[in-house]
Amino acid sequence: MAVTIRKLAEYKRNGKPIVVLTASDYAFAQLLDQTDVDMILVGDSLAMVTLGYDTTVPITLDEILHHAKAVRRGVKNALVAVDLPFLSYQVSIEQAIVSAGRALKEAGAEAVKLEGGHPAMVATVERLVQVGIPVMAHIGLTPQSVHQFGGFRQQGRSRPESERLLKEAIALESAGAFSIVLEHIPSDLARTISQKLTIPTIGIGAGEHCDGQVLVTADVLGLSEWQPPFARSYANLREIVTHAVQQYSDDVREHRFPEAKS
Ligand code: KIV
Repeated sequence: MAVTIRKLAEYKRNGKPIVVLTASDYAFAQLLDQTDVDMILVGDSLAMVTLGYDTTVPITLDEILHHAKAVRRGVKNALVAVDLPFLSYQVSIEQAIVSAGRALKEAGAEAVKLEGGHPAMVATVERLVQVGIPVMAHIGLTPQSVHQFGGFRQQGRSRPESERLLKEAIALESAGAFSIVLEHIPSDLARTISQKLTIPTIGIGAGEHCDGQVLVTADVLGLSEWQPPFARSYANLREIVTHAVQQYSDDVREHRFPEAKS
């Protein structure tokens, strides 16, 4: 049965961990959907792992939607959420509604994700939820602010920072977010936030106490050139792919493929 937002809330109540992975194309979306992954996120990390940008900052809404449509065509069971890219929702609440609306109407997403927990973003989340758009929030290391952070650094280490993140999480829940990504923050802080909130927290580099975990699929499969220290690879697709392609190349050059037919 297809995964819904209500089901994710039920998982939290029952202590069942929520599994989230990213996808950026039809083929991998289909493969992920054949497992019991709960949510597939068309994350703006695809800017880096699929499109080769240095950060997630340059990707546009049109680019994300192009990938989101392909993912949507491959997914029947998991919940599909789409990341709103940098400057597609921060300019005004109206802009956020139009961008998030496009993710639902044009790409068939069931939810959007956006970064930040300052009061302006809380107001944006509240308005999106009012018009019927499910929102997943994202705080901690929010990669669209990488230049402000001065790198992909862990957040929430000092007392004032951790208190701010806790307040932001509570405000985002009150605004109606159905879930919240906690990225690269200390595990104790993630535990406190997860215990305080009734909505599920989804951690990435935030330790074992979150209600679910998300990773970038390219990292899980060993496809990335670089991966963060908190990621784990379950395969080495770079090696498998280069080996297969080299074998094909050798076969063509040595006239072993295609086979001669009489
Ligand atoms: O863009 C992304 O893939 C993300 C997740 C890793 C949380 O934001």
